[in-house]
Amino acid sequence: MDIAHSLYRAVKPALFLIHSDQTHSAFMTMGELCGSNPLTRAVVGGLYRYRGPDISKVVDGVKYETPVLLSAGFDPNGRMTRIMRSMSFGGEEIGSTTAYPCPGNPPPRQTRLPKNQSIIIYKGLRNHGVDRLIAKLKKTPHTPGYVIGVSIALTNYRKESCDTLEGAIADYVLSFKKLNEANIGDYYTLNISCPNAFDGAGEMFADPAKLAQLLPAIKTIPSSKPLYLKMPINLPMEQFDALLDIADKNGVHGVICGNLNKNYDELEYRDEAPLEWRGGLSGKPCFSRSTALVRHVRQKYGKRFTIIGTGGILSPEDAMEKFRAGADLVQMISGMIFYSPSLMKHICKKYSEERPSYRV
Ligand SMILES: Cc1cc2nc3c(=O)[nH]c(=O)nc-3n(C[C@H](O)[C@H](O)[C@H](O)COP(=O)(O)O)c2cc1C
Repeated sequence: MDIAHSLYRAVKPALFLIHSDQTHSAFMTMGELCGSNPLTRAVVGGLYRYRGPDISKVVDGVKYETPVLLSAGFDPNGRMTRIMRSMSFGGEEIGSTTAYPCPGNPPPRQTRLPKNQSIIIYKGLRNHGVDRLIAKLKKTPHTPGYVIGVSIALTNYRKESCDTLEGAIADYVLSFKKLNEANIGDYYTLNISCPNAFDGAGEMFADPAKLAQLLPAIKTIPSSKPLYLKMPINLPMEQFDALLDIADKNGVHGVICGNLNKNYDELEYRDEAPLEWRGGLSGKPCFSRSTALVRHVRQKYGKRFTIIGTGGILSPEDAMEKFRAGADLVQMISGMIFYSPSLMKHICKKYSEERPSYRV
């Protein structure tokens, strides 16, 4: 019997009475505190850490203790890196970070839709910016065996970064250059698919012609780390494929499928969300779209791209479906909230029993 799981199920109704913005912020403070002390790390590890057969994996030269990662957005400023390994994560994608600090959108920034097992995300890339992130990670003791990816997005509120294509490219390049020069992070992701940034700026490079200009500029910066693209999930297939072709030509190592769902009509309980669009949907409404895209990329490109599957993993079986569709690694956030923080441990256990992989 999993005590931690039962305990979470018992307190969840009370927890869900508190607004998601507040519970997230409390979790961050608690997580940072627990991560800073070996005793609390051990206690959390005792409850939530996977202990079983070796399920480690090397992907693009980076070794992951478990194939389950924390998806971008939960830890935009790199505060959770010392605790999440105790919760069975093999690593996390910090960020999205931006070249300049981003105030983000006004609250509410996260609204739970419990019936739909989804969260409306309206953060607008709120983060401290890449300089503070680098300083923070430099002074944080490294957790051995825990992989750090850094997701880079466009400083969406800044006129100079958004008004021209050159400004936008310079913005991404600046973050990428600073991270590489500081040698911070084991892999990098270009987030070209933030659906809730000011004026649509977060999706500027989902336009293939623009991505075709961004990637060569990124490639001028010396880097020894794998480079991934975080893909949108609501594009017409021709546009999605055009982005993949450009990624392929420019030596991108892999893709993350994918970001939040923009279509509220795909909610099972439409009445739970506002009539007007005001941010992307996480969780269940992402599952089938992102899994289909994982399968599509694997079928079309074979082993050319590393694929990270994210979106709507709410049970161990959901994670297995992503692996069977072709994912090398999976990422998640919402499942930790709706199922329980023991989900990662349960996924690792199931993975060790089934070792699911893509079959042609
Ligand atoms: C609170 C929150 C903030 C997010 N912010 C970002 C972000 O800054 N960059 C990004 O690429 N994705 C962001 N996302 C999207 C997640 O990385 C992920 O793609 C999405 O939530 C689907 O996974 P899930 O269903 O397991 O939550 C965010 C998601 C959540 C829940």
